[in-house]
Amino acid sequence: MPNPVPCAIVIFGASGDLAQLKLIPAVYELCREKLVADKFVLIGYARSTQKKDGTPLNDQQYRKDCLEAIKKNARHKPIDDSVWKKMEPNIFYIAGAYDSEDDHARLSARLKELDKSHETGGNRLFYISTPPEVFEGIISRLGERQIEQTPDRSSGWKRIIIEKPFGRDLESAKHLNSVLLEYFEEKQVFRIDHYLGKETVQNLMVMRFANSIFEPIWNYKYIDHVQITVSETLSADDRAGYYDKSGATRDMIQNHLFQLMALVAMEPPSALDATSIRDEKVKVYKSIRPVSQGQVDAFAIRGQYGPGQYNDGKEKRSTPGYLKARGVAPNSTTETFAAIKLFIDNWRWSGTPFYLRTGKCLPEKLSEVVVRFRSPPLTLFQKQCNSAVYPNDLVIRVQPEEGISWRLNGKVPGGAMNIKSVALDFLYKTAFKTEPPEAYERLLYDALLGDQTLFIRGDEAEAAWQVIDPIEIAWSKSKTPPQQYAPGTWGPKAAMDLIELDGRRWLHSSEEEEPIVACSL
Ligand code: BG6
Repeated sequence: MPNPVPCAIVIFGASGDLAQLKLIPAVYELCREKLVADKFVLIGYARSTQKKDGTPLNDQQYRKDCLEAIKKNARHKPIDDSVWKKMEPNIFYIAGAYDSEDDHARLSARLKELDKSHETGGNRLFYISTPPEVFEGIISRLGERQIEQTPDRSSGWKRIIIEKPFGRDLESAKHLNSVLLEYFEEKQVFRIDHYLGKETVQNLMVMRFANSIFEPIWNYKYIDHVQITVSETLSADDRAGYYDKSGATRDMIQNHLFQLMALVAMEPPSALDATSIRDEKVKVYKSIRPVSQGQVDAFAIRGQYGPGQYNDGKEKRSTPGYLKARGVAPNSTTETFAAIKLFIDNWRWSGTPFYLRTGKCLPEKLSEVVVRFRSPPLTLFQKQCNSAVYPNDLVIRVQPEEGISWRLNGKVPGGAMNIKSVALDFLYKTAFKTEPPEAYERLLYDALLGDQTLFIRGDEAEAAWQVIDPIEIAWSKSKTPPQQYAPGTWGPKAAMDLIELDGRRWLHSSEEEEPIVACSL
């Protein structure tokens, strides 16, 4: 694997959850695998001058906090002391306001000193992992300094990673793009969607385009529909401050589920480079039949969990219901569940529905794509069989139990003609004897190398908002609130109806599961 060159990584939002849970541990894992140059520095930048208990936040304290975060959240535990010993002296902290010219001047001076002491060569990777309200201030200050100080842009590269949400509608996404492009070139901008860093998501392209069996049947003639589910067991109770301004559609569908859909639906790219792949994804979004505001109820369902008990995957918990969570407006219409039906009006997918759903407080945490093939001519076997004959499914499991599963029909041994679904499973951990790496490791590594393939291009983000905007606008005007659902269930009844009234069903629903015989390879 290529080795990144020396550089400074600056994380804005250094004391936030994302930095502690994912980013710092990802940097450690990259150091462990020697996928970061020996000459690198990591600067945490945040507003806080002290911790909640009054301890001053400085380089020493931040190093301690990073070690804690790594010990808790690194993928490989116990942590390797020799790796940490090398990493520790390269970590620094700056307390500053996000849009203050003076504080950015201090950051800049520190970076210059470190260029000398740590030979980082003027290369900078700025990671904006803050609340969206301060994105613009950070981008502008960084941009002004970059232009002012390196007019010929020859003293090292500058890249900027920007976390989601990338806008909250088409207009705000366009605005953010214009702020970015005022100072940076598109090739310097890395809009992140961590789903693209997940191993199974990348494998979607390999599966489709490195195997000759899929391409001939990958179209409306053989595929009845595609369903994409990203379900979460956790509630939104603890992060209502952010969530109430966003909701399931903006938080998950416009980005993570759309990326999965685009990779399933896109045409084969002419090359595996960033431009070719991103061009194909944009074409998918642009081919989606617009949902007119008058028809939104027939295509998009929103739900909100009520009070009750649910299992968060570890233990039983209870919630007073979304509307009673701290930080949620008592009459909030923010959806904690959304299900959407879309049509991609192109030659490959004409008439094939794509059903997308996501929600909080659901029975299982799973992310998967189900490609359901058309039914075989049922009359052939159904007359002789006691059991139902189901169509074939290709299930692409993004998480957990990453892998791909074919559901085929097999004859049950014996004199009678009985048919059962059999799963041919490819599981990452058994096939490759390894757990896939964390998405953030891969994405940070790619950004260090300057590879934008797994990041969102500006026009791609805008094209995705263009699909979502009419739905959000119709919901904001609607007098009907989201339908309530009980925590621990698969969402409101209307989400079942969305697919069942079309004569189809979700693979995971409250109904009894289809019988299946597992057969792991
Ligand atoms: C984030 C959303 O982007 O993705 C969260 O803001 C969500 O609400 C998370 O919980 C899910 O990510 P993952 O990797 O756990 O599926």
